[in-house]
Amino acid sequence: MKLLVINGPNLNMLGIREPDIYGKQTYEALLELIGNHAAARGVEVSFFQSNHEGAIVDAIQQAYFDKVDGIVINPAAYTHTSVAILDALKAVAIPTVEVHISDINSRDEFRKHSYISPVCVATICGKGFNGYLEAMDLLLK
Ligand code: DQA
Repeated sequence: MKLLVINGPNLNMLGIREPDIYGKQTYEALLELIGNHAAARGVEVSFFQSNHEGAIVDAIQQAYFDKVDGIVINPAAYTHTSVAILDALKAVAIPTVEVHISDINSRDEFRKHSYISPVCVATICGKGFNGYLEAMDLLLK
């Protein structure tokens, strides 16, 4: 079982960025948490983070050629804008779970709409870093 965890723009700034919303833990701490969770379940996990929409599209396409079994994605701000990421997920048809650290439904109005939700098997939001672990467990089921 091979999972890919994709994080979008500004998530490399976790710990520094709006800690009241996203917490004080760093991006590196997130990777460690996910890595330990995967190791405990005997799952192979790889990570990708980019601030660039096209680079995220490339990573999703590459997942197809790398025979990735499941994708966990937090597209960050691109959630609310990107038809390109939606189309890439449709193209590869790999089971995907959408994750948001914060509760996008109880913030700004523009955050309530996600372009990718319709093609994801589930959306997990407002659960902090644990949302990524829940997403992995869902894909493992
Ligand atoms: C986010 C929520 C988005 O609205 C925001 O643009 C982000 C992070 C989250 O994890 O809560 O960058 O995806």
